[in-house]
Amino acid sequence: MRSKIVAGNWKMNKNMEETEALLTTLAAKLPDTDAEVMVAPTYVSLANAVRVLQSSTIQVIAQNMHFAETGAYTGEVSADMLLNIDVDTVIIGHSERRAYFGETDEILAKKVTTALEKNMRVMFCFGEELEDRKSGNHFTVVENQLKNALFDVDASKWKNIILAYEPVWAIGTGETASPEQAQEMHAFIRKTITEAYDVAIANNVSILYGGSVKPGNAKEIFSKPDVDGGLIGGASLVADDFTAIIKAI
Ligand code: G3H
Repeated sequence: MRSKIVAGNWKMNKNMEETEALLTTLAAKLPDTDAEVMVAPTYVSLANAVRVLQSSTIQVIAQNMHFAETGAYTGEVSADMLLNIDVDTVIIGHSERRAYFGETDEILAKKVTTALEKNMRVMFCFGEELEDRKSGNHFTVVENQLKNALFDVDASKWKNIILAYEPVWAIGTGETASPEQAQEMHAFIRKTITEAYDVAIANNVSILYGGSVKPGNAKEIFSKPDVDGGLIGGASLVADDFTAIIKAI
């Protein structure tokens, strides 16, 4: 049985005091839910975020990590460093990392391997660009992103993978994939995983949708059978909006 998940990716927003204030409000307002609720503040606030949420069920996750164990990688953070502060889930492959920081499928595959070897959970992001959708290549693009970064992963490790389908054209643009477009792609993703592995793995993996999810559209998107929750950007920075989205699941 797969988990329902609502995760907030705060990207490069909120300093440590602002992070603490928003987390305190979120923890106080957290609605009753059987979904897992996660937030990904910036690195500098992570350890404090874990402390602030120690008696809350809200999980603190990281936005990124390096694939190397340790060493001369200026500016980077390792899996062990995250585990050391009790962060055991990491977002890998966000489209902003791919677009602005040159993260290729090959790099992402290495990050996924390291995180899973460390028994971390990986929230793997992928999704097509607008031109891929316009040219009808969106299924092929998504299939290749999955194949190139994930399909060498041993079947036994898939229990630690969460997928987040985020069409790039819907991120931060206010333009959301329709619930039908999200469902169509999520069903395709499950079929692709069934072909690469088996139906049990495909049915057990949570597939989140991300891209301009707001309180006004969350319920309809989450009502689709293959949509198991959302990865929320902008709306996760506003306590009432994020809370409303959690209620919608
Ligand atoms: O990681 C979150 C996604 O990039 C979605 O961002 O909700 O601001 O469109 P958004």
